[in-house]
Amino acid sequence: MNISEKVQALKPSAIHEMTRLSKQYDDVAFLSWAKPASGTPEHINEAAINAIQNGLVSGYSQSDGLPVLRELIAQKLIHDNKIDAKAEEVLVTIGAIEALAASVTAVIDPGDEVILLTPTYSTHITQVKLASGIPVLIETDEENNYKPDIDKIESSVGAKTKAVILCTPNNPTGTLYSEEDLRAIAEIAVKYDLFVIVDEAYEYFIFDDQKHFSIASIPGMKNRVISVFTFTKTYAMTGWRIGYLHTSEAILSQIKKVHIPYVICVPVVSQYAAIAALSGDQKCVEDFRNKYLNARDLMCERMDQLKDFMTYVKPSGSYLMFPKIHDKRAEDSFDFAKLILDKAKVSATPGVAFGPGGESHLRFSFCVPEEMINIAFDRIEDFFKRS
Ligand SMILES: Cc1ncc(COP(=O)(O)O)c(C=O)c1O
Repeated sequence: MNISEKVQALKPSAIHEMTRLSKQYDDVAFLSWAKPASGTPEHINEAAINAIQNGLVSGYSQSDGLPVLRELIAQKLIHDNKIDAKAEEVLVTIGAIEALAASVTAVIDPGDEVILLTPTYSTHITQVKLASGIPVLIETDEENNYKPDIDKIESSVGAKTKAVILCTPNNPTGTLYSEEDLRAIAEIAVKYDLFVIVDEAYEYFIFDDQKHFSIASIPGMKNRVISVFTFTKTYAMTGWRIGYLHTSEAILSQIKKVHIPYVICVPVVSQYAAIAALSGDQKCVEDFRNKYLNARDLMCERMDQLKDFMTYVKPSGSYLMFPKIHDKRAEDSFDFAKLILDKAKVSATPGVAFGPGGESHLRFSFCVPEEMINIAFDRIEDFFKRS
């Protein structure tokens, strides 16, 4: 009896492996998870408690989500993302993860090729493989701030290309794709009749007066774009497991055929929490953004003092940095992450977890208290100066 070859061929997640190893040490400065360290804002917690106390959460909801929530999401998409959205075009999902998985499964047939720009969130690559698709990985250039190379994207399109998956702002590099680049990718998608699946998980954490642009806001694109968003990052709601996607009603009805047999519906208590998140004061999001901005600047300052050992592209978005490590030992980034953990008690994510272009890099999250950043960098500085 053998487990599926497709599944056996998948490598265990380096992110989760680092978390497991980190737990074997005491007093680790933990910068390896892209999980907001702040708790969920109190008004969101209270709404969930009220929903429980009022007996609203013990059954299933509509599989595509509570109507009030879908309407609020549509309003948010119109207002903030400039997408011409309707509630009927929204599917509430178990985080961005399920939105991505259901979309990839709905779009891809075995052997279809999917273009992805690396370094990128490796789950995207894994989901394509699980759907028996073939990831076509295009490495973005660090010297060019990890900007998408439009010519390379176009020349990678072949007879079997079905979709492009984008992540903007990008995990792990923090790069925000410009409106100009996204318009150029949209033109390629139209020219070659491709789907675009876009992960916009970090849409609200944008710095330095830059603006997030949603590719689905380009007229006509919703017939081929599936846009994925999440409450996880925006409202520090990681454990509530709730996100959503937007696309045309025709595509959505197909994605629902994947969503229902896998999840039926999203936990109803989380949907009530999400209603409170969207209908409540948005100051909490602004507060998170300011906190991440300060944390980013602090992390950059600390890295500037280590120029001989690491250099970086300043992230325009997300709460992640992806420095290149100038140390031969980092050519195997997983071994190097283990070494830093062992010798400096700092947990970082090895760059290899993010596909081609990732080796010799580590990913550090700055969604943690500033004190944690200082402790981690005191230790890293000491590590480099000692060894
Ligand atoms: C780019 C990106 N997409 C999706 C996710 C998963 O989000 P969710 O918790 O909404 O499933 C993450 C989590 O780290 C992420 O970084």
